[in-house]
Amino acid sequence: MATNYEQPNQTAGETNKRSGGAISSVVDWINDRIPMTRVWNMHIAQYPAPKNFNFWYLFGSLAILVLVNQIVTGIWLTMNFVPSAEGAFASVEYIMRDVEYGWLLRYLHSTGASAFFVVVYLHMFRGMIYGSYQKPRELLWLFGMLIFLALMAEAFMGYLLPWGQMSFWGAQVIISLFGAIPVIGEDLTLWIRGDYVISGATLNRFFALHVIALPLVLVILVFLHIVALHEVGSNNPDGIEIKRKKGSVAEEDKPNFKFHEYYTSKKDVVDAIPFHPYYTVKDILGVAGFLILFCWVVFFMPEMNGFFLEAPNFEAANPLKTPEHIFPVWYFTPFYAILRAIPDKLAGVVAMGASIVVLALLPWLDRGKVRSIRYRSKWHKLNIAQFVVTFLILGWAGATPQTVFSTILSQICTVTYFMFFVLLYVYSKNEVTKPLPTRLTK
Ligand code: HEM
Repeated sequence: MATNYEQPNQTAGETNKRSGGAISSVVDWINDRIPMTRVWNMHIAQYPAPKNFNFWYLFGSLAILVLVNQIVTGIWLTMNFVPSAEGAFASVEYIMRDVEYGWLLRYLHSTGASAFFVVVYLHMFRGMIYGSYQKPRELLWLFGMLIFLALMAEAFMGYLLPWGQMSFWGAQVIISLFGAIPVIGEDLTLWIRGDYVISGATLNRFFALHVIALPLVLVILVFLHIVALHEVGSNNPDGIEIKRKKGSVAEEDKPNFKFHEYYTSKKDVVDAIPFHPYYTVKDILGVAGFLILFCWVVFFMPEMNGFFLEAPNFEAANPLKTPEHIFPVWYFTPFYAILRAIPDKLAGVVAMGASIVVLALLPWLDRGKVRSIRYRSKWHKLNIAQFVVTFLILGWAGATPQTVFSTILSQICTVTYFMFFVLLYVYSKNEVTKPLPTRLTK
């Protein structure tokens, strides 16, 4: 397959000067001042991507799509939203009933929040099965984890804004968790709320953080995530590096090579294809499939039986009336189940925090030399399978009223959740793996 790479070092505007015409002279003018075409070619059009990307590699671009959707619909919602305890709930009703296409904007945004977590969980799972967090992609993974944290904060703060019963009481439960921290706990909760109780002051600051601070942080982190990815290059389902030179074997790759070395000498690129048109076409297909599912939810079941928009949230916040059951939205329930599994509040908070932090440590807990699940031991496959089952059960347990059964189940699954990491650390050191191919397979 022809790879058709162009040299990135060509002088600014050289590519376009050849073609002539009014548009290309504008492009030339820009290229002489900022490296527009060069950056476009290096990072998108001619980015050398391994030729064997599969379904799992769609979720990065889908995450960008959902991020853009959230920002755009968020801007339009903000135009009619009133960020005060007196006005918030009514302004959301107004958006739903009176603003032209307000219902669509809101459902795109609320469904987008859930879609973001679906996409990001699948994206992280891909990283786990193909060992994409392993050297040299540790920092890429850490940026991903920071994105995940920022995303959780963004979703949590967004959920308070409609000022419904679940917004209010959900925030009440989560913010009070900080009170369990010794010494500073009480002052910290006061500082977060900006008041002695959750009030208009809390809503106001959550609004500021939700509409500007955290989206900015997210966009910057996503940028750094992509910079880190393009410095070391994409991993792939085989978990071996694409080769630097014809005839070299994967194991000979320098571990600390710079990815742009591929780029600057086109004959060195083996088993890579330019991102455009090969993966742009593939991603467009993924986007089409995603949009069909997404629009189906937006138009036919935006509440998703109470999973995406919870029933108590259609009632305005009432500090004097506690809902019968308080749950977070589905994407937080696995971590919420870990919190509830432990009777002691502080220990529960620590366990919940640890269940997120431990994910960030994966690059160092996995001591295996082989990245992809394709070539790893059956123990690794079993361990990953049990982790998925554990995560799903925790998700269910965190979304149901607490009973003796759900508590015991959550406790068992909290143990198996952490066992995944302990076992990985133990067996990965001397794991018996399958031989790696020297070139990418399919
Ligand atoms: C807003 C959220 C995110 C966006 C927009 C995003 C975007 C992307 C994109 C566009 C890629 C390249 C395409 C692909 O490999 O799918 C990528 C790769 C990657 N992302 Fe993310 N990402 C996000 C969150 C995360 C999170 C939460 C993690 C994990 C903690 C993560 C870990 C990775 C890894 C390890 C790769 C490299 C995968 C490989 O080469 O095999 N990302 N990301």
